[in-house]
Amino acid sequence: MNNSTPYTRFRAGSLQGLISMLAVIMTCSSVIAQKDSTGTTNPVTYDSFSPGALWYDTNGELINAHGGGIIYANKKYYWFGEKRGRSAQAGVNVYSSQDLYNWKPEGLALAANETDTTSDIARGCLMERPKVIYNEKTKKYLMWFHLELRRQGYSAARAGVAISDKPEGPYTFLKSFRPNGNMSRDMGLFVDDDGSAYHIYSSDENYALRLAKLTDDYTAPTTRDSLLFRNHREAPALFKYRNKYYLITSGCTGWTPNKATLHVANSLWGPWQLSAENPMKGPAAETTYGGQSTFVLPVRGKKDAFIFIADKWNPRDLKDSRYLWLPVQLDTETPYVNWLDKWELKFFNAAKK
Ligand code: DGJ
Repeated sequence: MNNSTPYTRFRAGSLQGLISMLAVIMTCSSVIAQKDSTGTTNPVTYDSFSPGALWYDTNGELINAHGGGIIYANKKYYWFGEKRGRSAQAGVNVYSSQDLYNWKPEGLALAANETDTTSDIARGCLMERPKVIYNEKTKKYLMWFHLELRRQGYSAARAGVAISDKPEGPYTFLKSFRPNGNMSRDMGLFVDDDGSAYHIYSSDENYALRLAKLTDDYTAPTTRDSLLFRNHREAPALFKYRNKYYLITSGCTGWTPNKATLHVANSLWGPWQLSAENPMKGPAAETTYGGQSTFVLPVRGKKDAFIFIADKWNPRDLKDSRYLWLPVQLDTETPYVNWLDKWELKFFNAAKK
């Protein structure tokens, strides 16, 4: 019996070993790219969510939209997220979907400036946690993101704003700033039922979580800007359920996962109270299943249906960071998330409230 692996056989220098090795490499790459031996793409069609699993777009490439957020516009969902790769960030990617399972790549919604090194979004900058909202009055789509300037590490701590007539973009960069002079890193946007929009952001070296009401055109913060609480938190994800505001945040351990918390308030301006020391349940709940919150998506057409979205960062290969999508469960006084290996949107039809 031959117990040698293709590797040992290759080392022995035989032609057979070399052929086996090539076969292994070709098999692996065809699985990763979802392409067959002729190079033809064989897209996978999904009908469920598998949190943490590889997730391919409709072209058969891995979805590359990290720290993201989603809006519903023109009968489609649009998923915006950081495009990550081995070199400098090319910008913010956008994907579209009608069912939330299958995502079509729509390209770069906002591209880094490749020619002008003095631009705030010059190639080499960081555009993290992009979120998009629609302004009913101006009929414009506004993208806000955490911006770090080229070659300045994480010291700039600014918010960036870009604008478009179409949900998928392309977006035109408008400006970047520290809201009301405050440092601004991890962030989210929230539009309330009355159309008022808010920027929630980690400030003061992430030791303060702040909220700023936006101007009517959503392009700038107003001076209505308040400290929500002092705590070392980031990755804010805000949602509203039964007239209460809920806020999931993570601790501050870089790319390393940690425990989430849930805060609740009757007003966005607070007082915010700790609602759950840890709203995650089940295996690996202590590390948010290895992930970090980014967004809570209200599901269109379903009452009281929210999806908790987190990033399972892979700092060695950020592009290969995975996505955790799990339903927010509302059958107890306090909303919570429980681990599911696989689930479908019909989960919400059966869920007890
Ligand atoms: C944690 C933040 O939440 C991420 O968005 C990212 O900025 C990393 N830190 C960088 O270390």
